[in-house]
Amino acid sequence: MKKRKNEDDNFEKLIYKIAKNEHSLKMKNCIQHGTTTTYSHSLNVAKTSYEINRKLHIGCDEKTLVTSAFLHDFFLYDWHNAEECPKKHGFVHPKIASDNAKKYFDINDKEQKIIESHMWPLTFRTPPSSREALVLCFVDKYCAVKEFFQQ
Ligand SMILES: [Fe+2]
Ligand SMILES: [Fe+2]
Repeated sequence: MKKRKNEDDNFEKLIYKIAKNEHSLKMKNCIQHGTTTTYSHSLNVAKTSYEINRKLHIGCDEKTLVTSAFLHDFFLYDWHNAEECPKKHGFVHPKIASDNAKKYFDINDKEQKIIESHMWPLTFRTPPSSREALVLCFVDKYCAVKEFFQQ
């Protein structure tokens, strides 16, 4: 029970600043799957990645993992809205998200790369190249399916 509380507190510390940022909060206005906003989806992916890394002792750097996971869909438009959604959203949004993350949070090169590879194998030219990227790639798909069936 105490261990769980410590884990939750540590996760809060890692995510607090970026999750409360005014630009991150814009993700609350965008729908990701069904009734799940992009903000909730990003939070789910960050928390699940953090937990899986701890449970399976994968050895990811927690700050890198949580930051990249929370910002992986930081593209800042509603992809259901034809007027604002770019063509081939599925292919281009990882790069848009990583550019926005660099712009607003000054993330490092490794974090940018992790965000850019999260849609692999759809974006087959950008395979995951770190353990953090592999965890995100898997957890994003797992959370998307879970959120889809929770509607
Ligand atoms: Fe995505
Ligand atoms: Fe996602």
